[in-house]
Amino acid sequence: MKVAVIGLAGVGRAHVDRWAANGDAELVSVCDIVPQITEDFASQYGVKGYTSTKEMLDTEALTAISICTPPKVHLALTRMAAERGIHVLCEKPMASTVSDCQEMIDVCRSTGVVLQIGHKKRFIPPLLRLKEMTEGEFGPIQYMVHRYPHPGMSNKDWFWAEDDGGGPILENAVHAADILGFLMGDVDRVYAEGGTFFAPHRKPQIDCAMFTLRFKSGAIGVVNAGMVSMGGFNFEDFYVANENGVAEVTGGFDRAETLRYSFRNDPETVEEENYPNFDSFRAEIEHFIECIQTGSEPRASGEAGMKAVAICCAVKRSAEIGEPFTL
Ligand SMILES: NC(=O)c1ccc[n+]([C@@H]2O[C@H](COP(=O)([O-])OP(=O)(O)OC[C@H]3O[C@@H](n4cnc5c(N)ncnc54)[C@H](O)[C@@H]3O)[C@@H](O)[C@H]2O)c1
Repeated sequence: MKVAVIGLAGVGRAHVDRWAANGDAELVSVCDIVPQITEDFASQYGVKGYTSTKEMLDTEALTAISICTPPKVHLALTRMAAERGIHVLCEKPMASTVSDCQEMIDVCRSTGVVLQIGHKKRFIPPLLRLKEMTEGEFGPIQYMVHRYPHPGMSNKDWFWAEDDGGGPILENAVHAADILGFLMGDVDRVYAEGGTFFAPHRKPQIDCAMFTLRFKSGAIGVVNAGMVSMGGFNFEDFYVANENGVAEVTGGFDRAETLRYSFRNDPETVEEENYPNFDSFRAEIEHFIECIQTGSEPRASGEAGMKAVAICCAVKRSAEIGEPFTL
């Protein structure tokens, strides 16, 4: 299958690398609106370079694309691809608004193309194992604390723009919103406190928030998120509990590697499993190819991407009005 990547400067490189290394696909072209970036990638990977997505889609016989641009244009690019029968792997956040997400789902459904969102956490082994445990002997999670402090500060204007990246809560915490949804189901109510402490020149955009989620199942979760950390404190963790036991998943930021758990009927025994150096970009692309080949629904579907965006919008709204927000 012939594939292309759109939007190259940042995470686009990870997609270009993984597509180029994948034996089931042929990377034939790349596209970025900045000509120099396009030229650099095209010559480095020996593929054709375009500065117009429309021109590329009309010229190349593509099966699939990765969209790695800022979220404001995710809908327009998805529509352009879907209307030509081209499958879409779109980076998170799925879009800047829930209504854009819905349009992306609708156009992909009506044209019969696969739509997968870049929620790579759904492929990380200790989190997949935890999900498996929740469906087995361990049982559903009732209590979750997730610390997800981004160890850096974005200086990209689009990242902070309300109608594009939406700041760290939409851009980063969307990963947290998505993985909690994956592990614990749909969310009913959100209560958030947020502030602008580390990037004051970006006000009124908030740069951090702590939010509580009440799930439809009755479970509760709390998330600490935002651009609050630094390189020497590069971590994330998940602590979960239910009537049967407790578990934690720990590791570097977006690189969780270790799962530990205990059952309440044997409190002295702590099991530990380690999954070092996993490449979640490679895994999500392999899964996307499989979904195209089999017609199955992606693990990180458009519906899941839209729910994560809805939670982040609710977090920002709740922080603004100082009240819980029911989804
Ligand atoms: N999954 C992850 O771990 C991860 C990591 C970083 C970023 N992202 C997501 O990827 C997206 C891009 O983020 P980034 O940090 O790579 O951004 P970036 O600004 O570093 O790069 C985006 C590129 O897209 C290009 N571009 C913009 N509009 C375009 C258009 N209409 N057509 C073609 N090219 C266009 C820009 O010129 C730029 O080169 C965002 O949605 C972001 O949230 C995901």
